[in-house]
Amino acid sequence: MFPSAAGPIGVFDSGYGGLTILKEIRAALPEYDYIYLGDNARAPYGTRSFDVVYEFTREAVKTLFERGCHLVILACNTASAKALRSIQQKDLPGWDSSRRVLGIIIPTVEALGSITKNGNIGVLGTPGTVSSGTYDIEIAKFFPQFRTVSVECPMWVPLVENREYDSPGADYFVEKYVEELFAQEPDTDTIILGCTHYPLLIDKIRRQVAGRATIITQGELVAASLREYLARHPEMDAVCTRGGNCTYLTTENPDKFTALAGTFMHTPVRAEHVTL
Ligand code: DGL
Repeated sequence: MFPSAAGPIGVFDSGYGGLTILKEIRAALPEYDYIYLGDNARAPYGTRSFDVVYEFTREAVKTLFERGCHLVILACNTASAKALRSIQQKDLPGWDSSRRVLGIIIPTVEALGSITKNGNIGVLGTPGTVSSGTYDIEIAKFFPQFRTVSVECPMWVPLVENREYDSPGADYFVEKYVEELFAQEPDTDTIILGCTHYPLLIDKIRRQVAGRATIITQGELVAASLREYLARHPEMDAVCTRGGNCTYLTTENPDKFTALAGTFMHTPVRAEHVTL
């Protein structure tokens, strides 16, 4: 059903956010080939139901497999929270049980142990990620003694997707959600930016947090975890091509994607249109 030859590593997000993960993965593992797929035409995913996020993510993963990927990273917390398990358990066995789909929530949670001092963790995420409870569940599994508070930040993804992340208007929503978190738990010492779009707002978030907590972004954590995964799975490493190339696919207008993605990646990007 899918091409059997070795292929690029697939990286998927609802829109531009996964580029913050791709950038770190490419810096850590520059020798591999990658395909980035942004479902920009249907972003944001964060306010969509479980069934819709699962169906959209499933279509994206299938497209990446059809384009030759054997390994796909869901560089999206919402998709990792709402679709990963169903794809792994329901779809992969029927499609091709040798292919793999990995999420980004567990590598993020695993890092907490060496960062927090008092075990008070704050999670900022999309409504979908927060309401799924995935961070609370995974943190409780790895570190039962930690306490987690989560805040939904529904306006942050639209600010990024609409290129307003640097605007004065963004300040209002950064203050609102960060202060909601500290109001729930003033002793929060570690904050997970649990959405791959949020690093675009990091300067404003840092200013608002003002040293009250350590802020965790996911790119480097996911890159380190992928490196370990490939070292532990030589059979998967063998089917990932090495050429240092990256192809960009978007479900939106490719010129629009090209313009904004270039500013995310700090390097020129040329996107192609894809229909899922
Ligand atoms: N970037 C995605 C995440 O990490 C979600 C953005 C969206 O709402 O589409 O959750």
